[in-house]
Amino acid sequence: MLCPCKEFRLTDLQRILNEQPNISFDALLQKTGAGGTCTACLLDLEYHYTTLPRGGGASAASGRAQRRRETVSLKQRLYRLLDSLSPQTPMPLADYMPVLYGSGFEECVCVANQSLLYESDVCATDMDLTLVVRDEAGHEVHHETHSTNAGTAQRISVSHHLGTPSGEIGIGSVRISRRFRAPGVRGTTRPQVQIVSAGGACAVHSQAPGRLRDRWLSVYHRPTDERLFVSAVNASASPLGVEIAYPFADGAASSSHRLSIPAYGAALHEIILSDPASRVLKGTLFGVRFRTDGLGKMHLFCATPDLDRLSIDHL
Ligand code: FES
Repeated sequence: MLCPCKEFRLTDLQRILNEQPNISFDALLQKTGAGGTCTACLLDLEYHYTTLPRGGGASAASGRAQRRRETVSLKQRLYRLLDSLSPQTPMPLADYMPVLYGSGFEECVCVANQSLLYESDVCATDMDLTLVVRDEAGHEVHHETHSTNAGTAQRISVSHHLGTPSGEIGIGSVRISRRFRAPGVRGTTRPQVQIVSAGGACAVHSQAPGRLRDRWLSVYHRPTDERLFVSAVNASASPLGVEIAYPFADGAASSSHRLSIPAYGAALHEIILSDPASRVLKGTLFGVRFRTDGLGKMHLFCATPDLDRLSIDHL
């Protein structure tokens, strides 16, 4: 799988390259939609696009002509016209991420403004990085701003601002805002959060909030080996409704769990099956459906039973 967001596979890419050996990288992304959602797969797509063998026998000259036609679509020509008329201004970016806290956990926000891998001297411009940490109820508990200048990187602990949870694990959130001081490229500045626990560490890139409409996931039911948690962060000033429904599988009845998250608040839900469903589904896959009715960000955590190791991914 090259792009899970679009279910775009290596075999799909190879088929397209065989059918259209001269397709440009931009045209490939437009045609398939791959790389356009979370963008996490773009480097992989680019790597395989440049290294996979091409089929077909188009001449170099006709290939260049086709590439020119594909890369300058009507939409792109319109964008170029607008760009040439409008002054460039830096775009502020704001991502929302869950913050886990509790005994044995530390969560950090990592931002690097380094040169891009393939172009040795391309950094983003200097930028201001602002972190706003909030508790489960959405109350701001911490605020800090840093200069993340070109060629520098930062790793900032955020979980310690949230204190001690009442249960074994607590949840809050962090808004990560980037404001570039001049127009330029984004470079490597996409933030990552890293969660360090007693037995390991995990990380994922941050994202802008969005609305989830029937996002599905398949997970294994292995209750002696792992626990599954879902986090939701509300990125708006209105309450956020979240529905998590499971298990979807033959022989098990699903039920729906509804959360109402206050403005800018956060929630953590552990996926626990009823005893009858647990017996039927042990060791097998079941489906989980997620929905939100407003702007938010959801993540899945897979943890060892004693929470000494976690992994995280975005939904
Ligand atoms: S993994 Fe490709 S866009 Fe998300």
